[in-house]
Amino acid sequence: MTSLVHQLIDTLPKAELHLHIEGTLEPEMMLALAKRNKITLPYETVDDVRAAYQFDNLQDFLDVYYLGMSVLIEERDFHDLTWAYLTKVHADGLTHAEIFFDPQAHMERGIAFETVLAGITSALEQAHKELGITSKLIMCFLRHLSEEEAFDTLACACKHKDHIFAVGLDSSEQGHPPEKFERVFAQARKEGFVAVAHAGEEGPPENVENALDLLGVSRVDHGNSALQDAGLTRRLAQEQTPLTMCPISNLRLKGIPDLSAAPVKKALDANLLVTVNSDDPSYFGGYLNDNYRAVADALALTEPQIVTLARNSFKASFLEDSEKQTQLDRIDAQITRLRPA
Ligand code: HPA
Ligand code: ZN
Repeated sequence: MTSLVHQLIDTLPKAELHLHIEGTLEPEMMLALAKRNKITLPYETVDDVRAAYQFDNLQDFLDVYYLGMSVLIEERDFHDLTWAYLTKVHADGLTHAEIFFDPQAHMERGIAFETVLAGITSALEQAHKELGITSKLIMCFLRHLSEEEAFDTLACACKHKDHIFAVGLDSSEQGHPPEKFERVFAQARKEGFVAVAHAGEEGPPENVENALDLLGVSRVDHGNSALQDAGLTRRLAQEQTPLTMCPISNLRLKGIPDLSAAPVKKALDANLLVTVNSDDPSYFGGYLNDNYRAVADALALTEPQIVTLARNSFKASFLEDSEKQTQLDRIDAQITRLRPA
């Protein structure tokens, strides 16, 4: 019999707030696009691709991730990629997505910013119309590239404020701390973008603190190492700054030895606004609900804790308050449906 915890995971409305669209590229689509676009990959079969997905750390993964996305060339490739993700998670109960994209990784291959953006946004619009999924787009700066390149990318985003809601910071955390992008983030916020950043994935708690204080982020992506610092944990609880955690990603990148070490329960117990997300589901082998199930089982999460995680996903989102309330009401309605009176 399926437990109520698993039924809640399968059927509650949820938002995903930490998802790199390029990280949803499934091996089958990668090979099909390589053929269509005449790109040579070091893989012949789906099994070859999957065999490459063994990572000892974040950089190992990033090398494979940038290679994989080299098959994305045309606007319709970005559309197909985004549409495939949205239809898949629609079946998981996803009703809202805040999606990262990495334009610099495409522009350095000669793909226009507008090609990437048009493909992604047309799929988001289609998902709104046909699946009722709402979304926001977050443009990430690649932190291993220079401040100057980030400023150039920000200038591209400024032409598309109607489609880009926030800016983020991803790629290699080691050696590229938040302070490298303090001026870029100040300018982005002045331009009206909301700010988020990956911090505390492989880096120390200071990176989380500096993302808050120097970059002015409204939400921290991962934020795992913050839990090592009692003062910072208290601050995050008090300010209710959301953390977008990604347990299967942490496991696959060897940030944690096993799922029982995922800091999700510790964050819940400390009253943090923690959420569960998939990061790069194709590469890490788990979409949104797989991540919920993984932590529910490994950490023996209770029914109320699963409900809290689903509620947090909307509370931590960038939806308007009235939209958040609508989603929270939908969660309550589903709980009523699952619990016989
Ligand atoms: N961390 C940092 N950068 C990334 C990731 C991640 O998990 N996925 C894609 N870019
Ligand atoms: Zn990420």
